[in-house]
Amino acid sequence: MKAVRIHEFGGPEVLRYEDVPVPQPGPGEIRVKVIAAGVNPVDWKMRNGSMKVPLPMTMGFDVSGIVDAIGPKVDAFYPGDQVYAKASSAHGGYAEYTVVSDSQAALKPRSIGFIEAAAVPTAGLTAWQMLFDVAGLKSDQKVLIHGAAGGVGSFAQQFAKWKGAYVVATASRNNNEFLKSLGADEVIDYNAQRFEDVVHDADVVIDTVGGDTFDRSWGVLKPGGILVTTVADVLEGATDARGVRAKHIVSRADGSELAEIAKLIDGRLIEPIITTVLPLSEARKAQELSETHHTRGKIVLSVAEEPKK
Ligand SMILES: NC(=O)c1ccc[n+]([C@@H]2O[C@H](COP(=O)([O-])OP(=O)(O)OC[C@H]3O[C@@H](n4cnc5c(N)ncnc54)[C@H](OP(=O)(O)O)[C@@H]3O)[C@@H](O)[C@H]2O)c1
Repeated sequence: MKAVRIHEFGGPEVLRYEDVPVPQPGPGEIRVKVIAAGVNPVDWKMRNGSMKVPLPMTMGFDVSGIVDAIGPKVDAFYPGDQVYAKASSAHGGYAEYTVVSDSQAALKPRSIGFIEAAAVPTAGLTAWQMLFDVAGLKSDQKVLIHGAAGGVGSFAQQFAKWKGAYVVATASRNNNEFLKSLGADEVIDYNAQRFEDVVHDADVVIDTVGGDTFDRSWGVLKPGGILVTTVADVLEGATDARGVRAKHIVSRADGSELAEIAKLIDGRLIEPIITTVLPLSEARKAQELSETHHTRGKIVLSVAEEPKK
């Protein structure tokens, strides 16, 4: 089968589109014939060596596709099931076939195609886990979302609105209308306004930007509020004098949460936002786009033709 792999860490030029054996599912695992693979910043962070992983490695985590084989002790899925999943680094998603644990997969939302479904797992799960598992967001709360136009942010914004929270979202000016269309109550152009001049007494801050943005976020939270970040280094139990807490999240693959998200998508309550679709053989271009830090929504690789309905 074809897969996009790395044999050394480096720039986009180290990505190789090559032939590799089809992986076999072990106990508790399913093999997925991949129709589409989602692209995330973690993919190029692994490629460039910022995160050390054993090599060679097949790139990518997020897939949608059709179960074509199951290993022993799998009773939740059958060959022919249409699924989506966040895979582990053991197999990788930029490939014609991948193997995932049955606990990492869920049935794909029925109302959307495979390309849209592949955009969901990492970004959707990260947003879900930040807002609900870590921050425990409630309907009467105010949340500030940094990076709201990106993969994680565009899901976070929609989940927070679905929950009934008041949402303040940051992006550059050309994404302001986009954020309003996703339901933001207030939008801040981070180049024109300092968010801490405008936002006060937030219950939750979702930070996908880090650096100065993370540092300046403590002050916008009310006492007892929580700052959840995907990027900044935070010491375990970090708290300021006002009782504001900060937590760094490492998102986990979770099939049951993907099933919850699928219900919201099928209920037309949230939707994946996709700006670019490229063939698997153009994974290099996809990662170069992702590395600009200015993707709106998601980039997805098309791996195989969508099956006829
Ligand atoms: N720890 C984990 O488990 C985990 C999980 C998922 C993601 N992450 C990390 O979280 C980060 C975000 O992930 P992602 O998938 O959402 O990335 P992404 O889709 O590439 O995010 C791009 C977005 O960031 C926005 N942005 C850039 N600079 C900004 C700023 N100063 N203020 C506000 N928005 C800004 C851009 O909006 P404009 O174009 O309008 O600037 C763009 O829409 C990445 O570093 C990723 O590696 C970590």
